[in-house]
Amino acid sequence: MSYPKIALIGADGQLGTDLLAHLKSKTEVAPLYYPDFDLTQPETAKSILTDLKSDIVINTAAFNRVDECEDNPEEALALNTLAVRDLSLTCRDLGLVLVHFSTDYVFNGNKRAPYIEMDEAAPLSVYGVSKLAGEFFVSSIVPCHFIIRTCGLYGAAGCWGKGNNFVDTMVSLADNGKPLRIVDDQWITPTSTWELADKVIELLGHEKYGLYHLTNEGECTWYGFAQEIFLLLGKLPDVIPVDSATYGAKAPRPAYSVLENKRAKDLGLSDFSHWKHALKDYLIKKGHI
Ligand SMILES: NC(=O)c1ccc[n+]([C@@H]2O[C@H](COP(=O)([O-])OP(=O)(O)OC[C@H]3O[C@@H](n4cnc5c(N)ncnc54)[C@H](OP(=O)(O)O)[C@@H]3O)[C@@H](O)[C@H]2O)c1
Repeated sequence: MSYPKIALIGADGQLGTDLLAHLKSKTEVAPLYYPDFDLTQPETAKSILTDLKSDIVINTAAFNRVDECEDNPEEALALNTLAVRDLSLTCRDLGLVLVHFSTDYVFNGNKRAPYIEMDEAAPLSVYGVSKLAGEFFVSSIVPCHFIIRTCGLYGAAGCWGKGNNFVDTMVSLADNGKPLRIVDDQWITPTSTWELADKVIELLGHEKYGLYHLTNEGECTWYGFAQEIFLLLGKLPDVIPVDSATYGAKAPRPAYSVLENKRAKDLGLSDFSHWKHALKDYLIKKGHI
């Protein structure tokens, strides 16, 4: 299948890197890198996108250091909300499809069962609020949009915004001999950006616009995630499960933010693998096992 021309914002980020790798072989893609392309500079961003004459814009950029967002709400809102509003206006004016990414942290976790797209969002943190507000702008301004909520990303490029991803952090701590305290009361689905990128491209072929949840299958706590990483690595560090209150992160996080890929399944998109399978693939690809 052939795809139209795509402009990719955040092309050297964790998800952006894998999207670029997948897209390159399928279509013409224009990677956009910060700071040459800065979403918080709407006039310049609009003029670059106008000159590019792409058909689709994919936005992976975000201020995603969740704890820092609590102290810097202006910065979080600037990139996750207001820049997304301006990008949405540009896409509307130029008649472009906008593909935008959001987060499981738009939910408060009270449901204690996988969230579907129709469930009510009620974010607990500044990050969650800023991302949900970004979603509102996309859905109300851009006629042809995909909003893709995902969860617990890890990819070969590492998360630029956070400095690293959870898997690589665990790999680097496996041998340091110190006990590791890992949160055991927040349920998530670890998701491979390699696999997510593949599904996003499949979704683009359908032109069924709207809100989608896209994650790997299954669920675990961060502690369970770490245990599986160490099991696959064949390492036995001292890992101590702790609750969120004891861990003491600045931003409140949902106790349960597993997403159900309901709309993707209804559409007939091919299934994601179980998170343990995707994790093993990742560790093999990175040469850790
Ligand atoms: N990471 C997760 O666990 C997770 C979970 C759920 C949802 N999400 C969502 O998934 C998306 C992708 O996340 P990710 O992990 O791939 O993030 P990431 O690795 O931090 O990548 C973000 C990209 O955006 C670029 N960027 C930063 N500020 C920019 C600006 N002002 N203008 C244009 N580009 C800018 C970054 O460039 P520089 O590196 O040069 O700053 C980087 O290339 C985000 O929307 C995020 O909210 C992530």
